[in-house]
Amino acid sequence: MEQLSEIQFKKFRDLIYDASGMHFSEINRPILESRLKERLRKANLESVDDYYTLITKSDEELKILLDAVTTNLTSFFRNKVHFTGFENGVIEDLKKVKKDKTIRLWSAGCSTGEEPYSLAMVLKDKLPDWKIEIVASDISFNVLMKAREGYYPKARVVGIPPEYLKRFMTEVGDGYSIKDEIKNIITFDYHNLKNEPSFKKFDIVFCRNVIIYFDAKAQEDVINGFYNSMTNHSYLFIGHSESLFGMKTKFIFTKFDETCLYMKKEGV
Ligand SMILES: C[S@@+](CC[C@H](N)C(=O)[O-])C[C@H]1O[C@@H](n2cnc3c(N)ncnc32)[C@H](O)[C@@H]1O
Repeated sequence: MEQLSEIQFKKFRDLIYDASGMHFSEINRPILESRLKERLRKANLESVDDYYTLITKSDEELKILLDAVTTNLTSFFRNKVHFTGFENGVIEDLKKVKKDKTIRLWSAGCSTGEEPYSLAMVLKDKLPDWKIEIVASDISFNVLMKAREGYYPKARVVGIPPEYLKRFMTEVGDGYSIKDEIKNIITFDYHNLKNEPSFKKFDIVFCRNVIIYFDAKAQEDVINGFYNSMTNHSYLFIGHSESLFGMKTKFIFTKFDETCLYMKKEGV
């Protein structure tokens, strides 16, 4: 593939942004170029312009490109301090508030599943007689496939507390499989945070290390979309290097010990 010209770079950058919210700045240009190169090779195309024409005509190919440019780094029990606040703050508070004993959680940008599976283990443990529903979504078909499979090599399960590993996973070959009692409470779905309507009525939303790749406008839209998809007494977790500072949003900043998170509190 030839090097991207200034015009070509801007065309791809804008199209990816419009379709997904992911913003490629000049610094990230080499990443975009290398992922495009790989895609062109797989699509058997030489010319970048031909590929651009293809993605403007084919929704399928656009989705494949978006998948190819995502960053999917994740791990079980990532950012331990969030889990401390989740267990000791959020769950304890919702136990007092939710008389119907049901809990709905959305892991938005769930990557290969480590985040929703970690949260499911904690909820199953702490709320044994509750109805637990988790929706886990991503824009990448590849990661969703791996997440649904729920099989992880030994090196990837290191963050899981030993008692959870024993209780909720089965050793298979060189790795571990998630047991059905955890799998069954999670629905993995394709969902694009930029352009698709939100799911509804969540008590908790986790969207960590996702909006970091968006520009300010797309971040604000996504965050306010979450607000509308949450119940009147609910909690939002974002990544520890992300913030709602400077955004026009009704979320209230709150803290449980060391854990920083946001709350929606309306009419209660
Ligand atoms: C770095 S991973 C974060 C995974 C997990 N939340 C965590 O913190 O460990 C970011 C994920 O966001 C997804 N993503 C990026 N843009 C998205 C969009 N517009 N809609 C839905 N998911 C998106 C990517 O495919 C990727 O899997």
